[in-house]
Amino acid sequence: MNYKSFDVNKVREDFPILSRKVNGNKIIYFDNAATSQTPIKVIDVISEYYKKYNANIHRGVHSLSQEATDAFENSRKTIKNHFNSKETCEIIFTSGATHGINIVSSGYSKILNENDELLVSEMEHHSNIVPWQMLCQLTGAKLKVIPMSIKGDLEMDEFEKLLTSKSKLVFLNHVSNAIGTINPIDYIIKKAHSIGAKVLIDGTQASPHIKTDLQKLDIDYYVTSAHKMCGPTGIGILYGKKSLLNKLPPYQGGGEMISDVTFEKTTYADLPHKFEAGTPNISGVIAFGTAINYMNNIGFDNIFNYEKELLNYAQDQIRKIEGVEIYGDSINKTPIVSFNIKGIHPYDIGSILDKMGIAVRTGHHCAQPIMDFYKIPGTVRASFSFYNTIEEIDLMIKGLKKAIMMLQ
Ligand code: ALA
Repeated sequence: MNYKSFDVNKVREDFPILSRKVNGNKIIYFDNAATSQTPIKVIDVISEYYKKYNANIHRGVHSLSQEATDAFENSRKTIKNHFNSKETCEIIFTSGATHGINIVSSGYSKILNENDELLVSEMEHHSNIVPWQMLCQLTGAKLKVIPMSIKGDLEMDEFEKLLTSKSKLVFLNHVSNAIGTINPIDYIIKKAHSIGAKVLIDGTQASPHIKTDLQKLDIDYYVTSAHKMCGPTGIGILYGKKSLLNKLPPYQGGGEMISDVTFEKTTYADLPHKFEAGTPNISGVIAFGTAINYMNNIGFDNIFNYEKELLNYAQDQIRKIEGVEIYGDSINKTPIVSFNIKGIHPYDIGSILDKMGIAVRTGHHCAQPIMDFYKIPGTVRASFSFYNTIEEIDLMIKGLKKAIMMLQ
């Protein structure tokens, strides 16, 4: 599909925030990898919940509670269908991807010992590094790093050398939040399974762009956050194969996650409730399902192809700027361009663009090992979504040139 046949102007009408002004200019929102914007349908679902059927779920016999429970569990089914898990109970609601990773990593504290090894990629977000380092400190297991190339691809030969009978878990992102590389998770999962290792995929940066089939890819554990894919903050999922989740201990104790409680002994509830202690983010769950339906109505193929056009155009235009360096030049990328301009701090570029109403992220993007790899303190990151336009990219390029004139 050519981006010119994608009706972006119609899509933009769904996002009220896109018509606001920032610092006197119409907003140009290029910080989608940090959080995506929210369509009116999703906003309305949240307000409908509080206006019409706000009640706690799974607890009351009264009508409001039953309506809320039905909407909550329907959303779980929508999410199950979207990601194609085998069973609905394999979808656990979390506060976000970080929470999901922590459930799995803390569960492995009783499973691993000092003879075990864990493999992580060099291009992870801190949320897929730190919980595993904490696990290694507890268990004595070793963390091994799959290196990346200058182009921003994982070194697959090195991965295969690192993968041994000692490897128990491989965890990596499907897409890098800092440089946008789409990692070959299909191949990595097959290789890891061939020696009996399990794989956790952080899908946070892929799920807004790519429809992921959990069963087809044979993923063991998967996490993502709703707010990257047109949903609200504070809600996400952990998926795990039922047999694996059944072996992990609960992460938190409390109401909802039990079967029976006495002062002598507590037995735990079945999946998914074993991992869902306490009152969940009910409106968030319901809105997450609405966001997924919204994106599926637009179509993930349409989204991916249109965003690819935006990415190619932006990279071509940014490359023409003198003194620019783009980090991450994989041929498989989501619409993220991370770059620096010689002699100028990324923060200064970001601040001047903000004065023009253009939102980009600057800094290390919670991926310091990538910055260390390129020997830089940070980058300017422009990350696009299907509601962005070529005209907005032109305005950013104009803004960048102006910023360079002011700062050099
Ligand atoms: N992880 C988010 C980002 O990449 C916050 O900006």
